[in-house]
Amino acid sequence: MLKAGVFDSGIGGLSVVKSLIKEGLFEEIIYYGDTARVPYGTKDKNTIIRYALEALEFFKNFDIDILITACNTVSAYAIEELKNQASFEVVGVIEPGVVALKNRVKDKNSNILITGTNATIKSGKYKKLLQNQGYKNLQEKATGLFVPMVEEDIYNGKVVDAIMHHYFKDIQKPDVLIMGCTHFPLIENEYRKFFKNTILIHSGEAIAEYLKDKFVFKNFFSKTNIKYFATENPNHLKKTAKKWLSL
Ligand code: DGL
Repeated sequence: MLKAGVFDSGIGGLSVVKSLIKEGLFEEIIYYGDTARVPYGTKDKNTIIRYALEALEFFKNFDIDILITACNTVSAYAIEELKNQASFEVVGVIEPGVVALKNRVKDKNSNILITGTNATIKSGKYKKLLQNQGYKNLQEKATGLFVPMVEEDIYNGKVVDAIMHHYFKDIQKPDVLIMGCTHFPLIENEYRKFFKNTILIHSGEAIAEYLKDKFVFKNFFSKTNIKYFATENPNHLKKTAKKWLSL
């Protein structure tokens, strides 16, 4: 496997790209951010599926080996449709997140907080998969405001503190927290400040592990060539990538 397509509604998928680069899994990554239509997390199921299939059309112009749906919201609603219509492998981030949690958290009574967009939480996808694995103590919280905030390059400070407080003030401190949206690792430090000593599950780290486990990688690359595409303002995406990926 040499060439991957990575798809998100916006810049959040860069947190997945960061993990893929770190592990050296691909020689080339084609990144597509649907920045003209972000956020997806406020949209309904049919719209999310339609946007995902449009992204798939885009990737058909490239000779990719695998499409990584670096968006929990799309992974919650459109993964089957993408798999059915793609001529390459398609992997979402929710199942890998659950596998990563299962590998790290052996106590089935652990208090687990699932955070994500409104759509992801509404889908109940994480909850169902975790219940199937025997986890009993699950809380869910939709934290969609973090998405436009991160798209606006706000990663810390008073706005973040206020939104954190707004969402989490009544939440019982979890043992484990799923950052069930790929935008959230961009404010991972703030999550860590708010929830000290909580285990954080990160979609990027989870999928990198999952891919290494499921597929054969004959080579690991010390450098990944990345091409960026966005449906609006690609320069902002590139600028964020430069900063976030330290390129
Ligand atoms: N980054 C995405 C996710 O993982 C989508 C955020 C959004 O567009 O609302 O869910």
